[in-house]
Amino acid sequence: MNNEAIGHAIAAAAERGVQRSELFVTSKLGPRFYSGNEVDVEVRTMLKQLGLDYLDLVLLHHPEGFGPLGRCRNGTAVECRIEALEKLGLAPVSVNQIQYNPWAPDWQQEVVDYCQKHSIAITAWSPFQGTMMQHASMFTVESLQQIARSSGKTVAQVVLRWAVQKGVVAIPGTSNPAHMDENLAGVYSFALSTEQMGIIDAVRSDPKAKGFTAMGFEKNES
Ligand SMILES: NC(=O)c1ccc[n+]([C@@H]2O[C@H](COP(=O)([O-])OP(=O)(O)OC[C@H]3O[C@@H](n4cnc5c(N)ncnc54)[C@H](OP(=O)(O)O)[C@@H]3O)[C@@H](O)[C@H]2O)c1
Repeated sequence: MNNEAIGHAIAAAAERGVQRSELFVTSKLGPRFYSGNEVDVEVRTMLKQLGLDYLDLVLLHHPEGFGPLGRCRNGTAVECRIEALEKLGLAPVSVNQIQYNPWAPDWQQEVVDYCQKHSIAITAWSPFQGTMMQHASMFTVESLQQIARSSGKTVAQVVLRWAVQKGVVAIPGTSNPAHMDENLAGVYSFALSTEQMGIIDAVRSDPKAKGFTAMGFEKNES
């Protein structure tokens, strides 16, 4: 876990005058912490490492085995399909964090539609189809390049804007500060037309994108 590194970044931000209330800090617990008082112990450990006195959101990785969910004011979930979400049943689920990008198969789009209908926020991980998942190929898809050129944006910004217009929170990963700037800048200062959104929705059938595979998604045959 990188809690200590994040803690240093938060402390440095505080020194620059950033208020705690301006930050939204999310962490995640795995199923191995779901028994006894391990949730309590682990959250306290995370807080100590982060140098914080509260977290804004704690995601539960595969929450099906998490008994105390009914006692939470807001439940959270990661990688939950519709049936699993419905079975949780005991508490409102506030967030479902799932892999979501223009290559998401229909069943994943159904999860997004279901969550949005039930006021469950979607966080989209791997918005560029991920580190190990041919993200570099994404940048060569002609239809995405055309939209980027005509919008005066980069392919990364177009794909993030697509996610914003889908009503989801995208969390792109990068170790490159220039990419981080690119991913933050300009995504809110333009809009994709309905036609452009349709082209991106159809990108799964682009010859270059057709062979893409992604963790948790079957080979894309749409
Ligand atoms: N909840 C879960 O189960 C789960 C699972 C997996 C991942 N995640 C989280 O989701 C986040 C993102 O996922 P991810 O990193 O796997 O996939 P991703 O965001 O789809 O792709 C990351 C890749 O895209 C590249 N990239 C980022 N911005 C770019 C730009 N502007 N131009 C060109 N390349 C760019 C990065 O390379 P550079 O470093 O060179 O920029 C990196 O190789 C991470 O924070 C991760 O922790 C959550």
